[in-house]
Amino acid sequence: MNTSTALSLRINGELFSAVLDHRTTLLDLLREHAGLTGAKKGCDHGQCGACTVLLDDRRRGETAGEGGRHGDGGQAGAPRRVNSCLVLAVSVAGARVTTVEGLADGDRPHPLQQAFVDHDAFQCGFCTPGQLCSGVAVIAEARAGRPSAASPPGVPDGPVELTAAEVRERMSGNLCRCGAYAHIVDAVQEVAR
Ligand code: FES
Ligand code: FES
Repeated sequence: MNTSTALSLRINGELFSAVLDHRTTLLDLLREHAGLTGAKKGCDHGQCGACTVLLDDRRRGETAGEGGRHGDGGQAGAPRRVNSCLVLAVSVAGARVTTVEGLADGDRPHPLQQAFVDHDAFQCGFCTPGQLCSGVAVIAEARAGRPSAASPPGVPDGPVELTAAEVRERMSGNLCRCGAYAHIVDAVQEVAR
């Protein structure tokens, strides 16, 4: 029985193609096959968020065509954040993926990366790639008026203000064993303003 499939993805705007075992996760594709070690393997069970990347699979099922960065987590592309350790690579063939390596604009860091530096929002940095990808998406989600469990009751009629409670709720899937949470909240809020 054939247990491998040829698939293509666009990762940080670059086309990536490979023949992979069906059981290969998106995280292992990134780290072991694409040489992108930014997304970290913490728990490998969907519990820590260290492997978070942005996924735009609107074109799923199609060949990965024209690319482009979606690191802004923008509403136009509307990528969603996923725990890449829980996603089978074969299930997202044709999708566009943004990892922490794709957030910067050349030598210019993404505003959230700069804010992490400015606010001392990391210690060992192991969780940081996932925190950054989540934070970028959180800012876009709030701007798009998507509520969270910390939002006031009812449907927002515009962007949701990212209070500290909102940031903590929305980032709650990303754990930091170093406890850098307070500074991460500050960094996300600064970029959201
Ligand atoms: S490695 Fe922990 S959620 Fe994926
Ligand atoms: S900075 Fe060490 S795990 Fe978050």
